[in-house]
Amino acid sequence: MQPLKILVIDDEQLIRWSFEKKLRTLGYTVFTAESGEEGLQLCESEVPDVAFVDNKLPGMQGLEVISRIRSMNEDTNIVFMTAYGSIDTAVKAMKLGAQEYVNKPFSFKEIYAIIDSIREKISISNEVQLLRRQHKDKVTFDHIVGRSPVIRKIIQLSNKIARINTTTVLLLGESGTGKDLFARAIHNESNRSNKPFVTINCASLPETLLESELFGHEQGAFTDAKKLKKGLFEMAEGGTVFLDEIGEINMVTQVKLLGVIENRVIRRLSGTADIPVDIRIIAATNKDLKRSIEDKTFREDLFYRLTVFQIMIPPLREHPEDISLLSDHFLAHFNNQFRKSIRLIDPDAKHLLEKYSWPGNIRELRNVIERAVILETHDVVQVENLPAEIVKLHSDPAHPLIPSAELVRSMAEGSSLYDLEKQTIIESLNKAEHNQTKAAKILGITRDTLRYKMKKYKL
Ligand SMILES: Nc1ncnc2c1ncn2[C@@H]1O[C@H](COP(=O)(O)OP(=O)(O)OP(=O)(O)O)[C@@H](O)[C@H]1O
Ligand SMILES: [Mg+2]
Repeated sequence: MQPLKILVIDDEQLIRWSFEKKLRTLGYTVFTAESGEEGLQLCESEVPDVAFVDNKLPGMQGLEVISRIRSMNEDTNIVFMTAYGSIDTAVKAMKLGAQEYVNKPFSFKEIYAIIDSIREKISISNEVQLLRRQHKDKVTFDHIVGRSPVIRKIIQLSNKIARINTTTVLLLGESGTGKDLFARAIHNESNRSNKPFVTINCASLPETLLESELFGHEQGAFTDAKKLKKGLFEMAEGGTVFLDEIGEINMVTQVKLLGVIENRVIRRLSGTADIPVDIRIIAATNKDLKRSIEDKTFREDLFYRLTVFQIMIPPLREHPEDISLLSDHFLAHFNNQFRKSIRLIDPDAKHLLEKYSWPGNIRELRNVIERAVILETHDVVQVENLPAEIVKLHSDPAHPLIPSAELVRSMAEGSSLYDLEKQTIIESLNKAEHNQTKAAKILGITRDTLRYKMKKYKL
């Protein structure tokens, strides 16, 4: 904790002098002011942790100073100094936002006790804030959204794997399916969670750099190696190393990696000593490693080492039943982030989301909802704020239109798709007061498509 900053506002020179002298020797930073006005300036520029404010001041009075400090910031703890017996004024001061008061004349023992209690209060509140932040940042399985059987199954499996402390894990899945998320959750739910989680994207570095990044190097290992450098495996001691895009590492590094997994030791570049490491390796790829083995770009023995526990995260199109839940989850998230209060996603819009194929998987869905939340000015996410490629599904003349939920409810059971689409068009034409451009917009199709369909249904 940094040394406390203390401000003393008192017109009596002796008081200012004794505060300075006593508190500075104890290591506090002390500022003093002769008047309320001067004190407020210091309060603004220095944001002290504690301000001692005398009641009787030339010019602005103590109580006024307190209320001004309070409106300036919430962080400064105020101690009111008043003549013995003026309880009423002390009560007023507390109501205005002072935390403590002290009667004059006082002994410094009292002052020390007050400062100690404030210091304890600050340190507790710092700790609470830190814990809150850490807790918020820590991805756990609770943060993984999805109720489909396949997602539930892989959460269950990951949960089991998390408890096995050393086992290597391979996460497979297309881009944006949540490999990163699962890797973090596994780390955070393991008993390595208080140790580092180190991640490196193997595709982002040239081969030689990747090797020295992972294993470190001794001084003078190559021209630029002026100093000894520890690699990520060493830096992650006790924790987890996440090797993203493992399919991109070269054969030499693959051999070394195999050594790490088999023997739990590493050797720095141009080093001679085997350094033991206690780490868990989680690797991820969206490549078909079996094919890389056939192409002789990936070692089979490394593949088998990595695939002891393999988690295959399916693309979003294979669990569309989670789209609705995920969309609502991201809606809440971005409402919060952008301080909006959009209640829901319009059922038609949701239907479109559920029909789309999501080549960019959950990341793409997240981006689409983020965009819609930013654009939306009503309290419901409307179709028109979805990107064209999702709404476009609608514009395909061969593609049936999506009827509104109301319409579906009102139609007789056994109505044909033909009837539904026809009614959908009639409904939107009515809504648009027979303005075709407007009706097409409501339907999320082009005017040409609408004309084509009207002709088809003889409207
Ligand atoms: N099941 C899920 N629940 C909630 N959010 C998810 C889920 N899966 C993925 N996400 C979110 O989607 C985004 C993409 O996920 P992530 O970065 O983990 O994907 P990835 O598989 O590592 O992608 P890439 O291969 O491109 O690195 C992240 O913002 C992540 O938080
Ligand atoms: Mg990733």
